[in-house]
Amino acid sequence: MQAAAEAQALKTRVLAEIAAAPDEAGLEAVRVAVLGKTGSISLLMRGLGAMNPAERQVMGPALNALKDEVAASIAARREAFHEAALDARLASERLDLTLPAAPSRRGAVHPVSQVMEEAAAIFAEMGFVLAEGPDIETDFNNFTALNFPEGHPAREMHDTFFFPPGPDGTRKLLRTHTSPVQVRTMLAQEPPIRIIAMGRTYRCDSDQTHTPMFHQIEGLVIDRETHMGHLKGCLMDFCRAFFEVDDVRVRFRPHYFPFTEPSAEMDIGCDRSGGQIRIGEGEDWLEILGSGMVHANVLRNCGIDPEIWQGFAFGIGIDRLAMLKYGMSDLRDFFAGDPRWIRHYGFSPFFPASLASGLS
Ligand code: PHE
Repeated sequence: MQAAAEAQALKTRVLAEIAAAPDEAGLEAVRVAVLGKTGSISLLMRGLGAMNPAERQVMGPALNALKDEVAASIAARREAFHEAALDARLASERLDLTLPAAPSRRGAVHPVSQVMEEAAAIFAEMGFVLAEGPDIETDFNNFTALNFPEGHPAREMHDTFFFPPGPDGTRKLLRTHTSPVQVRTMLAQEPPIRIIAMGRTYRCDSDQTHTPMFHQIEGLVIDRETHMGHLKGCLMDFCRAFFEVDDVRVRFRPHYFPFTEPSAEMDIGCDRSGGQIRIGEGEDWLEILGSGMVHANVLRNCGIDPEIWQGFAFGIGIDRLAMLKYGMSDLRDFFAGDPRWIRHYGFSPFFPASLASGLS
């Protein structure tokens, strides 16, 4: 029974080698040396043919059992390597969410949020109600209802971010202005209307005074006897309150918007020398808003009779208001997420803007 002793010795040696394999590659080398075509167990099994029947009857099942035992031991060791690798990865990628924030990283209110609160305080005092709409809009709300005909060049002026077409073939888009909230409001409620809507807007554009995402305040007033004088008075009152000065230099320039007629853009006088923007000084102008009397087609598209109701609308660039009031010269810094910037330009969360206590 020399073969039996040989098999027993082999088993002891191989199991020790499997236990000692340092990694998966080492384990694979052991497997090939034992169970491969010319491996030691395979060779032993080949020797079965030369044995006499009695011997074979004992050694056949013994070698098969040895082979199975070795294979199972290799599989178990391989599994152990996988588990160890996973444990190591989990340990190295561990993130302790319970850690308190470092005190030097304390947050501040972003100037855009601050300006939104200031504007809300001013317009609330004038009797405006806050309205809301989503960032992802339909082509109808963003363009068609606002009197941008299909294929009209004014659509191209907006550098729109479109989504891929849906099952019905229409494309959603990131709203290019807050004016779709006008449409939503007029479709949902009867005049008289006096709302503002604030939020993010998107156009594919980037330089010192443009970012692909920016913010607007939309205003809409619909009543029986509203005219351009109301529009000018409202916006000039807003600017005085917002900039906290008795006189702000402004100018209205005739402009074209498909959804207002007549239309005007308003600029604010400022000084841009020395890499800073200063309001109320110098000879420069910064455009901060578009405005006009709501076009009769827009009223009709929203189910409002233009023979009875008219009104005005405006869209103010919030980020630019912040630049003018607080002196930042590059809009792109607003959204760069640099904590030094927000520490310098941010506001305390403990003093919300109000007309009674001072805006800023
Ligand atoms: N929606 C216009 C824009 O973003 C601004 C605007 C709003 C003009 C309302 C007129 C009336 O350019």
